[in-house]
Amino acid sequence: MSAKSHVLAALEENKGKNVSGSKLADELSISRNAVWKAIKVLQEEGYAINAVTNKGYCLSEQNDILSEHSIRPYLSGRTKDLRMEVHKSVTSTNSLLKELAASGEAEGKVLIAEEQSSGRGRMGRSFYSPANTGIYMSILLRPNVTVEDSLFITTAAAVAVASSIEKITAIPSKIKWVNDIFCNDKKVCGILTEAGIDFEAGGLEYAVLGIGINVGRPQGGFPDELKTIATGIFDSSLFESDVRSKLIAEILNRFFDYYDNLHEKTFLEEYRNRSFLLGKEIDIITGKEIKQGLAYD
Ligand code: BTN
Repeated sequence: MSAKSHVLAALEENKGKNVSGSKLADELSISRNAVWKAIKVLQEEGYAINAVTNKGYCLSEQNDILSEHSIRPYLSGRTKDLRMEVHKSVTSTNSLLKELAASGEAEGKVLIAEEQSSGRGRMGRSFYSPANTGIYMSILLRPNVTVEDSLFITTAAAVAVASSIEKITAIPSKIKWVNDIFCNDKKVCGILTEAGIDFEAGGLEYAVLGIGINVGRPQGGFPDELKTIATGIFDSSLFESDVRSKLIAEILNRFFDYYDNLHEKTFLEEYRNRSFLLGKEIDIITGKEIKQGLAYD
């Protein structure tokens, strides 16, 4: 870890409290000047750090920049071993993680971004990924399950996301089919799972699970084409500062609980309870043919 990372970790641990510069320097075995330089860089990156003479440095409780240090304290059990990278802006966390997967990266790598310039959705669509109000996260998996069972990765993730939203924000959330999570009758989250196939072994080489969540309403609102279908979990761009970090950690904790015993499908009961299609009349579209039916299981 760099001096900057160490300083940020110490400030995140003491969020809202003053941390003495000389104590930081002693603890990290660096000079006070190195601490000061790290603080300057962090401030330039947008971290809300106040420097108070004779008291030290304080990371504001309102600071809402995602970082590994803001997420880690909320991880539990085996998710503590995940290898996490948090970026300010990337093209697409799924695209980048697929590249890492293809070059041999092991299971458990997680890429998170504050913003995506080319966020991707299902069926070749784009996924609107503005800064500050969303979560854009991809998880690399190398599942040792049948191809048939691997299809349940998305289902497990949908349940993990929906139940985490409800736990952290107390806002009810439902699942539409497998990939979309809804709050207040509008989409707040989409899931895109992409797989690499090992043709020789005839199985799955890796899966990249991509989760995109609109936590708040973007400054300036959603683009016109999304206004009627998408919303944020919160209908505002202002929400409690730690919500995104807590939500990310809760989703990872819950998802890996399900994933580690995927074949048991312990999440299916909750999936059914949260599905807002079950019991409803639906259109079944196969190629050009459309049939009507009732979704009952
Ligand atoms: C959909 O609604 O069609 C699925 C959207 C999936 C978006 C997420 S955001 C993180 C990851 N990176 C991407 O480019 N896409 C997924």
